[in-house]
Amino acid sequence: MNPSSSPFLIYLFLSIYNFLILLCFILRLLFHLFEILVKNLTKAMNMFQDWPEPIVRVQSLSQSNLKAIPNRYVKPLSQRPNLPSQNHHNKHNPVTAAIPIIDLGGLYTNDITLHAKTLDEISKACKEWGFFQVVNHGMSPQLMDRAKETWRDFFHLPMELKNMHANSPKTYEGYGSRLGVEKGAILDWSDYYYLHYCPLSLKDYTKWPSLSLHRREILEDYCKEMVKLCENLMSILSRNLGLQEDILQNAFGGKEESGGCLRVNYYPKCPQPELTLGLSPHSDPGGLTILLPDEQVAGLQVRGCDDAWITVEPAPHALIVNIGDQIQMLTNSIYKSIEHRVIVSPAKERLSLAFFYNPKGNIPIEPLEELVTEDSPALYSSTTYDQYRQFMRTQGPRSKSHIDELRSPR
Ligand code: OGA
Ligand code: NI
Repeated sequence: MNPSSSPFLIYLFLSIYNFLILLCFILRLLFHLFEILVKNLTKAMNMFQDWPEPIVRVQSLSQSNLKAIPNRYVKPLSQRPNLPSQNHHNKHNPVTAAIPIIDLGGLYTNDITLHAKTLDEISKACKEWGFFQVVNHGMSPQLMDRAKETWRDFFHLPMELKNMHANSPKTYEGYGSRLGVEKGAILDWSDYYYLHYCPLSLKDYTKWPSLSLHRREILEDYCKEMVKLCENLMSILSRNLGLQEDILQNAFGGKEESGGCLRVNYYPKCPQPELTLGLSPHSDPGGLTILLPDEQVAGLQVRGCDDAWITVEPAPHALIVNIGDQIQMLTNSIYKSIEHRVIVSPAKERLSLAFFYNPKGNIPIEPLEELVTEDSPALYSSTTYDQYRQFMRTQGPRSKSHIDELRSPR
């Protein structure tokens, strides 16, 4: 070997050695970063698969005859309801407001004046209240009663049977007892059942409660009628805006792609109704909601214009319609999605069927260009309903904080 080459060899050897050490170090660092990434991803994914804490059924709590409700359900002082018994409704503090009751029969007569008057009432209600009751809506009272009866029977089944349909935060379909996945959150005093009815691609009968064929048909008929009514209202609302009658429906992705889901809310009786809520203040994240309320037990409260909570007194066989956040955004806030909440009763359980009619999940929702002018610029930035509803699904009901977040800076 040539002696002059030995320092070179040593140098070469040391360089390779250093390079290998550096490479090892970089690989270890990359591996470590990858490990952190996987860990966080799994954590994020689990957030949507599992509830953060064991689920407690509010119905079981109610049936255990507790004198005091667990702390998990006690709302901070500022959020507790002012129950009517504590409220002094006298001439100094009258409760005179009531949400409008609109007879939809006026739309199906030949009387042009009555027809126009009915449209006008709906227009006003959407602008001023965001909430109204409808009667003569075309839905058979028997079907409404049977649908309620079917669900009441479901909630009266033994817990083991109901738990076979326990839901997860991934899709929320099935039997549930909380909205939102934040560990340690203060919960609402209610259980629910949630299912997708349309579009067809999301309808999954394995997520429906196990019911007799007859009951299944009732459920199916009820949802079908709900979709019909929603489609009808969508064209009425569009015409009332002075636009083509299919404009809102198209903005939702068309009839075939629009979403429809049912949430049946079950509010067990509560030993301390003054400390909690059946459903915390929220506005509905979707498009339109049609609520079949419990006629025996009032509970729904709507935030009036002076911020007071107004208890809705359901008219016989009326349905309650309210505008959701997606329509508030599409109409650039001409139609209002109003905050509401539910109070519970010490003496009686309450059951309500909320049907939500929503845009297709992945299309942009933003103020309709026909409604945006120099004088009324777009108030909201674009979003999709899939994105939007993750907020409710992770954080639970939070007043109107989400739609307010999407307000464009002015
Ligand atoms: C809802 C809702 C009211 C009620 O489900 O979003 O507001 O009376 N329900 O149950
Ligand atoms: Ni609601």
